[in-house]
Parts: sequence; structure tokens; C-alpha cells
Amino acid sequence: MASFAFALMTLGFPAVAEKPHVLFILADDYGWGNMGVHRRDAGSSPEEIQGQAEVQTPNIDALIDAGVLLDRHYTYKICSPTRSSIQSGRLAVHVNPINSAVTSQNYDDPVSGYAGIPRNMTGIAEKLRDAGYRTHLVGKWDAGMATPEHTPKGRGYETWYGYYQHANDYWHKSTVFFATGEVDACLNRMKDLSMHNSSYSGPVRNATSLSAACEEDEESDPACYEEYLFKERVLEIIRNHDVSSPLFLFYSFHLIHTPLQAPKAWLHKIDDMVKAAGGKPFDDQNRRLYAAMTLYMDAAIGEAVEALKKKDMYDNTLIIFTSDNGGPIYEPGAASNHPLRGSKYNDWEGGVRTNAFVSGGFIPAERRGKKFEGIVNVADWYGTLTELAGVDMEDKKAEAANGWLKQKGLPLLHPVDSVPQWKNIINDKNGRPDAMHLSSKAVLMWPYKLVTGKQPLSAWVGPNYPNCSTVKSIDDHNGPLPAPDDVKIFGESMPLAPTPEEVDRQTWTIDCGAGCLVNVRDDPTEHVNLAADPKYASILSKMQETLKEMNKDLFNPDRGLDRVAACDVAIEQDRTFGPFVHAEDFYSPAPEKDFGQRFRDQVLSMTLHTLNSDKVKEPFVSALKKMGTKAFQNMNTDKCLVPSREAVSEQYTQFTV
Ligand SMILES: *[C@@H]1O[C@H](CO)[C@@H](O)[C@H](O)[C@H]1NC(C)=O
Ligand SMILES: *[C@@H]1O[C@H](CO)[C@@H](O)[C@H](O)[C@H]1NC(C)=O
Ligand SMILES: *[C@@H]1O[C@H](CO)[C@@H](O)[C@H](O)[C@H]1NC(C)=O
Ligand SMILES: *[C@@H]1O[C@H](CO)[C@@H](O)[C@H](O)[C@H]1NC(C)=O
Repeated sequence: MASFAFALMTLGFPAVAEKPHVLFILADDYGWGNMGVHRRDAGSSPEEIQGQAEVQTPNIDALIDAGVLLDRHYTYKICSPTRSSIQSGRLAVHVNPINSAVTSQNYDDPVSGYAGIPRNMTGIAEKLRDAGYRTHLVGKWDAGMATPEHTPKGRGYETWYGYYQHANDYWHKSTVFFATGEVDACLNRMKDLSMHNSSYSGPVRNATSLSAACEEDEESDPACYEEYLFKERVLEIIRNHDVSSPLFLFYSFHLIHTPLQAPKAWLHKIDDMVKAAGGKPFDDQNRRLYAAMTLYMDAAIGEAVEALKKKDMYDNTLIIFTSDNGGPIYEPGAASNHPLRGSKYNDWEGGVRTNAFVSGGFIPAERRGKKFEGIVNVADWYGTLTELAGVDMEDKKAEAANGWLKQKGLPLLHPVDSVPQWKNIINDKNGRPDAMHLSSKAVLMWPYKLVTGKQPLSAWVGPNYPNCSTVKSIDDHNGPLPAPDDVKIFGESMPLAPTPEEVDRQTWTIDCGAGCLVNVRDDPTEHVNLAADPKYASILSKMQETLKEMNKDLFNPDRGLDRVAACDVAIEQDRTFGPFVHAEDFYSPAPEKDFGQRFRDQVLSMTLHTLNSDKVKEPFVSALKKMGTKAFQNMNTDKCLVPSREAVSEQYTQFTV
């Protein structure tokens, strides 16, 4: 290696770069239209000007100006699949195309019979550990937790501080219904905030961190807000990092996922910024909350970058930023993908083409400030990072498991199908000219995209969304409600409207049937369906054929049912979620519980066992479904802030179980 570096130097190349530090930033449910750079070329209508005043992301914009905007970066349409894809280096369709309950288990498949990434796959952090990196994860995981191998620790992160589920409450760190969108096997009684390091593994036991004591604080950065805790952890990792090794820091925000909760001071801050930019006050509660949360994320990113500079690490740092999917335009998701079509939960650009960029001092000077229009899949970071780190991207562990899986007749694990993209980004070359499998319903074959079947939330939203008409629309039962699979009770979908036709109407669902065909290069907002145009007949049928072929490779093993055993383990661990299969040696010893606590734990455990028993569960679930459907139809998930408007509900109703 040394002589190779010397050879390059004598040839007039700079010395072989050290392995870069990597700061991987993953935002949650971040809408296309909620990032400042995507508002820059907006028109000059009053609404667009208002939109520009509201969307404030100065730190992100500066990183993009100093880096490369990834204009065609694709993910899966929902979170857990995208997160599984990043960590495993497989397209989401080849590792985990569904959001399943973290408590799922299929007793017959000890490799893939759980939520998230199959147990025997090698994570990107494991690979980077092999290459000499120090590896840390902060924030949301959502790629499985059933066994110790499924956790961040099992996937190669030396430390982690965060949560396992899709979401939790930003203040209490609990799994209440309005935070997770499901009634889980543990009746939403568990907390979800855990950590591990070299000497400890288990729930976060710091009472301050778990409290909502600071919720009413007017101070600018209340210390019990979840994102504050994450940010402090990130800054601590950077400050304490021994720069003789490269750092891999995965900063996985909860922001800007529901529940929409922001510290008060940040609501005032965004109000002031909008005013200073010449805008009118927000007329919609959720749009204001979403903007305040976005501002918080942006500022936290700014602080992390500052810390890297202070530590003299920035010049050799590669920053990668993406959202896990497009913004949710249903209420109370409150994102805007303007001017793109669609939302989280569908295959339109608004659902799968995400805000993304690379930045940091590692970006060659001549590429800074450029836009890269080559296709990148979120699975490609695995290959890109292993390539930069100088290790191969083969997954020997998965290969080894396949021998056994084949014997048992169980689904085989896909090899890593990540495309290393660094050279493509640097040389401005499209690394994915071939068909790319987006989901079982969609395929991209640049510049065409085929979208099939039912697609919820197939709408375009304007520059100031959601707004008072959205509130009225919800009040009038015209949607947009969350996508049909978003809300679950004990793993079963809960219908949000009384009939399937009503569900479709209120979720703004359209049916593409055998295929809508769009040209996403010439028509990036997907207004023109080319499917009926005879000129495109052969492209259409070719893509339909390709999708059919590709779907034969869809990885969708039986992940089993919600298991109350997961609740028992959680109850033991301070009522906090964590691994529940072969997890005996995973947890650090817990403090002794007093009699009262043991008694309350016993009662809760017995209650959960009863509710999860065959006899009780069915009637219980169907009763909850009926109640839930009704409640959803009458829920005020947003609020118009224009005082003159009547019929505004006073309370932001929260449907808690
Ligand atoms: C690991 O975490 C525990 C619990 O928070 C803490 O007490 C301990 O100091 C940490 N150890 C290291 C090495 O950071
Ligand atoms: C508990 O968390 C708070 C912040 O939430 C922090 O200031 C304090 O140092 C922590 N205590 C311990 C013992 O780690
Ligand atoms: C999968 O991983 C687990 C845990 O490391 C191991 O015990 C098991 O043997 C592996 N299974 C296969 C089929 O390789
Ligand atoms: C307000 O919301 C509606 C949908 O509820 C949307 O169609 C419209 O474009 C939005 N208006 C603006 C200015 O964004």
C-alpha cells in the first residue's frame, strides 16, 4: 500500500487519501418541498414566495452548495425497508419490503422469520469495522430487534443510543398509539429508548432522559426532547473520537416523522424567521410544527458539522444525507413534496425520490456545488462505503446460511446488490442505466417509470401544504387519511373508513391497474400517463414484463405473528423494547426491583397474556377496529390557525389507548 501511494505521488497524484470519516445522516419522512434548495427555482406567485419564507434549512443548503446534490436518489416508499436496505446493501425488495411489528416471530424460520433484516446478513458497520473504522449509531433503528444479531450491536455498531421501533413519543419516549400508529402486542405500554457501549447493553435508565419534564419549557433547547439527547450524543462521539482511526457515525434522526412535537422555542423561532423573510404567519398548525421540526434538524446538522471542523476532521469527512422515503402528505404527516406527485406509501416520485446529497471536505473541489443526475439507490451506500474503505462487499455469512436454508426449503438470502457509486458521482456518470426494481408495483428504467396497481395519496400538493383547505377536507371526510396499511392493531390493518370504497376515496387512492407509464426525465412531476399512447406500447409491455420477472425475486418470507414473549422481556427490562429471542446474555444486569414494581409487572404481564390468547384476541381486535375506524373518521388531526374560521376544533385530539 505504501509503495502504491509513493508510486502515485511520483506520478504527480496526491498521496492516496486516508479513509474518510463518514457522517451518514438519515432524515425520517422528509418531504421534497421541505428542503430549501428545492424551493430555490420556484415561481414568483404569492404562494411560492410564502413557501420560500417558510422552508428554512440554511445549514443543509450550505452543505449542498459545498457538496453535490443527488438529484435522482431513490429509496423504498416506507421506512423499515429503506433502513434495512442501507444497513444490508440489498435493494429493499431483496431484504425487507414491509414494515412489520418489531415483536414478530415465525418459529419455523430462525433466519428470516422476524421483522427487519434477516438475522444472518452482514451489516455495513461490520464491514467498516473490518476496515478499521470506529462505528457509532445514534437515533432510529427500525431494521429489526428480535435477536441480539438484529440489533445495532449485532450489526457492527460499537455504540448506539436510540430506539428500535418506527417511532416513539419525542418527550416520553413511549410507544403510545399516536406515536407508532399501531396497537401492539404489549398494548403500547412499553418505552423505546435503549443503548449499548463496551460495558453496558439495555434500556436507557436515566430518568431525566425519559421524562417529559421539559415539554413546557420556553428555553431554546430543552434537555428532555429526544432530538436534543441524540444531538448531544453525536457531539460527544465527535469530541471523543480518536482521530488516528476513521469514524463511521450514523446519525439517524427521528425528525421529521410523526408525532409532530417540537420545543416551544422552535415554534417561535420559525415564526420569527418567516416574518423576517417577509412571509405571513402560518395558517395551519401541522405545517407550522413540521417547519419547526425541520428547523431543529437543520440546526442539529449545523452543530455536528461545527464539531467536525473544531476537531479538524471536516476536511477528510464525507457527509452523506438522505431521507428514508418521501414526505407523508396524509394528516397528520404534514409533509409537502411540492411540486412532485405523491407521498410516502406510493411509488410516485414524491414517495421514492428523496432529498439527498453528499458533502464535506472529502468532496473533490472541482465537484463542489454540482448536481449529480445519475440514478442512485439507497442500497448503493453499502458498496460505496466498502469501496472507499478498501474492503469487499461480499456477504459470506449470508452465503453460509443459504446452504442450511436450502435444505429446509426456506427463502434464500439475496447477495449484496449495491452499486459502488463514488466514481460515478465524481465522474458524473449514471451507474444504474438498467431497470431498477422499486417495489412489487413499480420499476424504473431511465427515463421511464412503470407504476401499477392501487396507489394511495396519488396527489400533487401546492406550495403551502397542508393548509386550511386540507383541514376542511379532513373535516368533510374527504381525506387525506394515512395509507391503508399504516395503522395496525395487533399486526392487522385497521380500516380508517367504513367501506373499502371510502378508504380509497379518503386516502386519495387511484388504480393504475396494469400500468401507468411516465417519463420522469421530461415530466418530473408525472402529469402525463403515456400508457394509452400507441407510441409507447412496446416500452410499456417491456416494462410490464420486466416487473413481472423481477417480482419473482421479491424477498418476502413469513415473518410470523406478534409475540407476547417480546412484552415479557420488555417488562423485565424497565418496560423497554429489546431483543426477546436468545437474548439471555444480551442485557446488562438490571437494578433490583421492589415488591410493588414486581407486583405491577406481574399484573401487566398477565393482562397482556390474556389479551394475546387465542380466545380473547380475536373479539378484542375486532372491537378495537370498529372503535378505531369511527374514531378516525371524527378525529381532528390538524387545525386551521386563521382565527376567523369556524368549526375549528379547540383540542388537538389524540387517540390514545
Ligand atoms: C456505557 O454506558 C453506561 C450506561 O449509560 C455508562 O454508565 C458507562 O459509563 C458507559 N461506558 C462507556 C465506556 O462509555
Ligand atoms: C441524564 O440525562 C441528562 C440529560 O437528559 C444528563 O444531563 C445527565 O448527565 C444524565 N445523567 C447521567 C447519570 O448520565
Ligand atoms: C444464523 O446466525 C445465528 C447467530 O449467529 C447462528 O447461530 C446460526 O447458526 C446462523 N444460521 C445459519 C443457517 O447460518
Ligand atoms: C392547500 O391544500 C390543498 C389540499 O388540501 C392543496 O390542493 C392546495 O394546493 C394547498 N394550497 C397551497 C397554496 O399549497
